Amino acid sequence: MTIKPLVIGNWKMNLDFVEAVHLGQQIGVLLKNRPSEHTEIVVAPPFVDLRSVASIVDSERIPIGVAAQHVNPNDNGAHTGEVSASMLKRLGVTWVLVGHSERRSMYAMDDAAVALTLRAVVRSGLKAVLCVGEALDIREDGDHDEWVRRQLRSALDGLDERFAELVTIAYEPIWAIGTGLTADVAQVHAMMTHVRSVLTPAFKESRVLYGGSVNAENAASLVAEGRADGFLVGGASLKAESFLAIIQACDDCYALKR
Ligand code: PGA
Repeated sequence: MTIKPLVIGNWKMNLDFVEAVHLGQQIGVLLKNRPSEHTEIVVAPPFVDLRSVASIVDSERIPIGVAAQHVNPNDNGAHTGEVSASMLKRLGVTWVLVGHSERRSMYAMDDAAVALTLRAVVRSGLKAVLCVGEALDIREDGDHDEWVRRQLRSALDGLDERFAELVTIAYEPIWAIGTGLTADVAQVHAMMTHVRSVLTPAFKESRVLYGGSVNAENAASLVAEGRADGFLVGGASLKAESFLAIIQACDDCYALKR
């Protein structure tokens, strides 16, 4: 691994703002005791927690970034219930997840909306985590490479290459999300290689993460042998100890391989 690892905790629709501040502070305490030397850390709380988490990260100098889980691609206007990238920026948010499979499958976010959202995020100067991944039937039919290639191409084709450095890819097979069923090391390795082969040279510094039931036990092998550049973590990011163990696994692996 030559690119510095990145671990993002996706808190999904969990933790109210009091709980979110508490978890942020716990992460801060653990990082003080055992700092992450190489791994970049980001947490993605629900919208209503963003300001509180960004504030404690800032005031307590916790070395983590703050991400939103979604954003509306429009700048402002009549979009009841939505939030724009410029609003996030003003809160101290620096990252946005784009096209998470739960947004795609439950909230009708199609490829066109993903591409628009990605553009809105990077144009506003925020960093984007473009999420891709196949459902179980696609994997069983052996069509996963083509599926992921199509998702990547539809989001990235035509994107101004100046923005490439703001883009991270997260490969998250839907069948592994929240199921306890992790893709095995060989599957992750094959898909990491495939994703990198689909990306144009402008994206050679972009990190390719794996997501789907990552935990303290499987993180080390997924990063060492699976060759993921880090992780998008759901369930295991809701406890500071398990989140930090995943970060430590990335850190140790990077230190060994350098
Ligand atoms: P999980 O979620 O780690 O709970 O499987 C990953 C994600 O959805 O980002």
